[in-house]
Amino acid sequence: MPTVGAMNDTLHHRTAVVTGAAKGIGAGIATALAAAGAPVVVNYRTDDTAAERVVRNITEAGGRAVAVRADVTRRGEVSALFAAAREAFGPVRVLVNNAGVYTFAPFTDVTEEDYRRQVDTNLWGTLLTMQAMAAQNDIDDGAIINLSTAGTVGHPPYSAMYVATKSAVNSVTLIAAKELAPRGIRVNAIAPSPSDTDGTRAMGFVGSPQADATVAGIPLGRLGTPEDYGPVAVFLASPAARWITGDVLLVSGGQR
Ligand SMILES: NC(=O)c1ccc[n+]([C@@H]2O[C@H](COP(=O)([O-])OP(=O)(O)OC[C@H]3O[C@@H](n4cnc5c(N)ncnc54)[C@H](OP(=O)(O)O)[C@@H]3O)[C@@H](O)[C@H]2O)c1
Repeated sequence: MPTVGAMNDTLHHRTAVVTGAAKGIGAGIATALAAAGAPVVVNYRTDDTAAERVVRNITEAGGRAVAVRADVTRRGEVSALFAAAREAFGPVRVLVNNAGVYTFAPFTDVTEEDYRRQVDTNLWGTLLTMQAMAAQNDIDDGAIINLSTAGTVGHPPYSAMYVATKSAVNSVTLIAAKELAPRGIRVNAIAPSPSDTDGTRAMGFVGSPQADATVAGIPLGRLGTPEDYGPVAVFLASPAARWITGDVLLVSGGQR
């Protein structure tokens, strides 16, 4: 469970939706945004208990948060997510597209199921929530932060489908940044290195020989953690980043 830092007011009243925030990097980002004063919607797909734990962690530290179940691959559920967010806290001004899935295999072994699951969640899900954000006619500024991967720079083997979806996310980020700039909505991406999360633990990566080999290629010498990404998301969502849009920021301990 990510730790809550000292509370401050950087994002006061700036309602944030973080997709896939019940676990891993999303939980770290939701926690950091709340500590910076944003009322946060903790979105998740299946795990009510994990989502409620993140909400409790935030509220016990003095922040505001609600959990909203919605599958980002379904347009109707994304609409309901934004309706619930607006009902709870007002117009959404910060959207973090963190919900993502990954499988690693030689490209020769990629199945249609792997392809559809990753494209649906990582690319289509990101597009749907960005459309819902843009459909709000009562905001005249905002920040969208998409989760990419450092793999879009390094192109590691056995990641063809996953990295392809995130490369597409980078393109959507850069293009939407231009389309939304006249409305004062900035669009950026964070590209993490391999990290210690619920997802990478569940797949047996953390503690494995592959993880050791990966760490050997990370100049700062460790896997990322959910706490590494929260402060970067707070910065990108804040007025301090007012002149940054259409960028993909490597947050990777120097890995490229
Ligand atoms: N971990 C890494 O090494 C790493 C590196 C680079 C980039 N990233 C990116 O960072 C993001 C988070 O990764 P992570 O490892 O922290 O993930 P994780 O620990 O596996 O957690 C994923 C979260 O996303 C939710 N989710 C999955 N599909 C969803 C859907 N269709 N709708 C709504 N929520 C959904 C899950 O909800 P439920 O559990 O309730 O189903 C869970 O809360 C992903 O976009 C990933 O590609 C991760």
